[in-house]
Amino acid sequence: MTRDVPHTTSDGGLTYVSRYTTVQRINHWVTAALFTMLTLSGLSLFHPSLFFLTGLFGGGPSTRAIHPWFGVVLFLSFLMLFFRFWSLNLPNRDDIEWSKRIGDVVSNRHDRLPELGKYNAGQKIVFWGQSILITCMFLSGLVIWDQYFGTYTSIEPKRVALLIHSLAALCAILIIFVHVYAGIWIKGTGRAMMRGNVTGGWAYRHHRKWLRKEAAAHGIASEAEIYAAHHPAPATKAEPPAK
Ligand code: HEM
Repeated sequence: MTRDVPHTTSDGGLTYVSRYTTVQRINHWVTAALFTMLTLSGLSLFHPSLFFLTGLFGGGPSTRAIHPWFGVVLFLSFLMLFFRFWSLNLPNRDDIEWSKRIGDVVSNRHDRLPELGKYNAGQKIVFWGQSILITCMFLSGLVIWDQYFGTYTSIEPKRVALLIHSLAALCAILIIFVHVYAGIWIKGTGRAMMRGNVTGGWAYRHHRKWLRKEAAAHGIASEAEIYAAHHPAPATKAEPPAK
């Protein structure tokens, strides 16, 4: 049986299902680091009370010079994330059903939720929200980047661009708070981006359709393995069902 995606059964009999490749995770964490630096440098230029943050980047003038470059690199890094994940974030009927049951989501009533593919509607909103907002920030940022593009537009479009830039940045920061909170709140999710895999129990609970597809595609074939993949992370080792 070929094992091109590592499903390792170890640590008390748990099965792990691969969720992200190393390259995908590096792309994600580079984007996250850039987003953090962009946020800190942007906030330091946004309001005088936050000016002290320029100390992190060597003072006011250097922060002003480096902030747009963080933005350019973030845009390129996010573009790579976008092309990796856009097709998995396309909306479908399950998203409508899941959204209608948002009360059950927050109260952890997973038994009432539809089976989902790789991402839920909340994750898809974060994905498309960030795609739109980062594009808005990038384009409006070019309009207000005086050093290179100052002569291309008059002051009026620059004012509008600055407003769009600030509002888009604010929304993007709020969305990332939700993204990070969800990653911490839903136990076992962080592991996906840290180690690249999740337990079979996590996959069964949160993204069952995706798990079935993975199991079929990568040959988690025997009943015992399917059971192990589906069994929620146990405190003690669970026995597979009798044949
Ligand atoms: C800074 C702290 C961040 C943390 C702790 C974090 C955490 C995570 C985790 C745990 C996942 C895996 C979710 C899953 O597989 O179900 C994930 C996925 C993802 N993250 Fe982040 N993230 C952070 C920042 C960002 C930033 C700044 C962006 C983009 C601007 C971003 C974009 C994504 C994307 C596109 C995915 C794939 C999910 C999808 O396509 O819907 N993340 N993140």
